[in-house]
Amino acid sequence: MPDYFLYLGSSGVNNWLALSESDEFPITARLTELLRQSLPSLTTYLRGIFSLVSIGVGSGEKERMLLEALVPRSTSTYYAVDISREMVDQALKRVADINVEKIGLVALLEDLALIRQYWSPPILLCLLGNNFGAHEPDWLLETVHAQLKGNDMFLFDCHLLPASRRSQARVYEQVQQMYRAPSNLRFNLAPLVRRGMEPDSGIFHADLVPVKTGSGTVYGIKRWLEITKDSVIHCGASQVFLKAGDTINRGVTYKCTRSQIADYLNRHGFQESAFYLSPDENYLLTLVRKQPHF
Ligand SMILES: C[S@@+](CC[C@H](N)C(=O)[O-])C[C@H]1O[C@@H](n2cnc3c(N)ncnc32)[C@H](O)[C@@H]1O
Repeated sequence: MPDYFLYLGSSGVNNWLALSESDEFPITARLTELLRQSLPSLTTYLRGIFSLVSIGVGSGEKERMLLEALVPRSTSTYYAVDISREMVDQALKRVADINVEKIGLVALLEDLALIRQYWSPPILLCLLGNNFGAHEPDWLLETVHAQLKGNDMFLFDCHLLPASRRSQARVYEQVQQMYRAPSNLRFNLAPLVRRGMEPDSGIFHADLVPVKTGSGTVYGIKRWLEITKDSVIHCGASQVFLKAGDTINRGVTYKCTRSQIADYLNRHGFQESAFYLSPDENYLLTLVRKQPHF
């Protein structure tokens, strides 16, 4: 079951907002705070940006902060892109009072080559709210690099893996705790519950697995749902029968150290113009552009 199923429909929007505001899932709030604190410096690097394009825009809270700073300078167009139409609506509504041309696109990040036909450079491409970690980093950076021009910029944030082994063991505990939290379980079961499953018929599992990459061993969070009671899911006119013991694979998200991110960027022809770390150095916000002669 792909991640984006969780965000679809008006219930997807409400479930995501409830999770992102919950104390049991602090990542979104921490990344929002990091952006807020970085804005005065960040915007000095963004002179001349014509369009802001945000993929996986969600409710558009961070984009509002960026547009408030950028529209008085040079930015005149905003593209809010998300696979959830309701998220796009929400993101556009959030900036209704800002004097910027607003364009909503319901699309996947995987369609970046198509999406680029709509935007006018130079752009600031945003992938915020830990969306970076939801994709395999080599694929992601190659995909973004292929669609950007020399004057475009790319802004993303992520939850970092600490460098030391001891701290990594702590992250393992935190990940387990975060995924076992009731709010997260509710969020992850919601697409099935909406289609008829009883809320107590599944448990969510997450495991941290080492993944060898060109930038060393990064950690993948492998996630799956275990069905604990026989259930029937209704999909349109069809029914899907799930048996106790069945598993629904939820794919992998990625966590890298700060130096691995730097290495990934370098290998894929990006240079960092500015970067910001949270005071505990667990969160990174980085602004990059293409290396001139890559
Ligand atoms: C973790 S939320 C982040 C939302 C927002 N950027 C933030 O900072 O709060 C992920 C968002 O990306 C969207 N999404 C998930 N997979 C996507 C994909 N492959 N392409 C485009 N949007 C996607 C979801 O609908 C959701 O709105």
